[in-house]
Amino acid sequence: MNVLSIVSECAPFAKTGGLADVAGALAKALGPLGCKSQTLMPAYPALKPLAEKGRQIASFDRLMGGPARILRVRASGVDLLLLDAPHLFDRPGHIYLDASGKDWSDNHLRFGALCKAGAEIALGRLPDWQPDVVHAHDWQAGLVPLYLRQAGSALPVVTTIHNIAFQGIFPPSVMAPLALSSAHFTVDGFEYWEKVSFLKAGLVYADHITTVSPTYAHELLMPDFGMGFEGLLGARAGRLSGILNGIDVEDWNPATDPRIDANYSTRSKKGKVRNRIALARSFGVELPEDAPLFGLVSRLTSQKGLDLMVEATPHLLARGGALVVLGSGDKALERAFADLATAHPGRVGFDTRFDEGLAHQLQAGSDVMLVPSRFEPCGLTQLCALRYGTIPLVSLTGGLADTVINANPAALAAGCATGFQFSPVTKGALIHALDRCFDTYADPVAWKRLVSNAMAQDVSWSTSAARYAALYKELASAHD
Ligand code: ADP
Ligand code: GLC
Repeated sequence: MNVLSIVSECAPFAKTGGLADVAGALAKALGPLGCKSQTLMPAYPALKPLAEKGRQIASFDRLMGGPARILRVRASGVDLLLLDAPHLFDRPGHIYLDASGKDWSDNHLRFGALCKAGAEIALGRLPDWQPDVVHAHDWQAGLVPLYLRQAGSALPVVTTIHNIAFQGIFPPSVMAPLALSSAHFTVDGFEYWEKVSFLKAGLVYADHITTVSPTYAHELLMPDFGMGFEGLLGARAGRLSGILNGIDVEDWNPATDPRIDANYSTRSKKGKVRNRIALARSFGVELPEDAPLFGLVSRLTSQKGLDLMVEATPHLLARGGALVVLGSGDKALERAFADLATAHPGRVGFDTRFDEGLAHQLQAGSDVMLVPSRFEPCGLTQLCALRYGTIPLVSLTGGLADTVINANPAALAAGCATGFQFSPVTKGALIHALDRCFDTYADPVAWKRLVSNAMAQDVSWSTSAARYAALYKELASAHD
């Protein structure tokens, strides 16, 4: 079974969030299941040295306004097809945003080119490899099934929604440069309120739609979460499923992680204390006595509910906790966390870097990982936290609802709790969860049990990669 995965970011090569982690880890997990996957992504400047080591296997005289080529290279266990299109991708800085923080004005061409190149590969462009199924991730790959259908191909396509908030919406004028047939510019096609939506194309023309947790699959059918696509998804509900993300448990392994201060495992957790000390020191906070050190690693956006965290921090501090935050994004949230750090020196630490090593140190050294999201399709930081024996405190939504067992009295009595959940997503409910967390921390036996339960959870890809493999197989055999 050959699978072509098409994605705008893939760890460890280019990453702004969980999409990259999933693309990288899923590709690796599929191998042992008999799926040979190749991952098509842009050759951003950071990937140029890797691309130069690759072998050119296809070229385009003109792809969205300039010459382009595809280079094949294997790295970090992933078979990559790198789309080298200098006029679209050779630019410094963020992969989606220009220096002023706005989307690159030609993002429709940049990711339209990714889709077009993907469709060409699916149509047989490579001399030695032909996919049986195409897996298109998020809006950046949304045009793939449309290009295939326009070319008369019925090759099966799975579209995965990692986050419905990003819909790839552009004015109708993009149809001509993208060579989109205006016959499909209808309410049943890719037209969305008189504009073009890449994501809508991905949802309408795919054979199957997945999203990254069962609860989010259900939430997407409701207006509060579907963000305008609830009707379309409702109509396609028979072809929509939620498959929970995992994490790369080799990369995220406290027993072997080279990025953390001291390794530890389920059997011997002593090293966690050393990581706690090192983390507090590196963020300039004093180690709280008899209270948790709270950690937060996140894009700073309204999705993540961090304005509530800012408001709840005085309570967290009043109860003796300390807080370390690693994240960047929304300028108002950056300012709010910077202000908290200034107002509470030695109690709140804040770093705006995007730094993989620091993210690992934060997971290893914190006692509690905060994820108070308003919506969360899956969320990966709570999964990493479980693996590192760091107790997730999360809102009850999306993948956070599916991966954490709330420490309510029944779960504590049954000895199966792994974290704290709160609902609704309000300051009051968050504070109540913080209080439950402090109270449980004060009982070392109960806390130890939580940590052991957390570390015993299976957060790997094993179950979910098998689900994707089964789905690919079902679609490919229906197509034969
Ligand atoms: P999302 O994809 O919505 O941002 P996820 O929880 O799925 O949320 O994935 C976020 C990923 O990005 C995690 O791997 C997390 O560790 C990482 N991350 C977020 N912010 C930073 C940062 N400032 N530095 C390093 N890693 C970060
Ligand atoms: C998105 C979502 C996040 C999910 C990630 C990977 O960025 O916001 O919840 O974990 O994609 O699927």
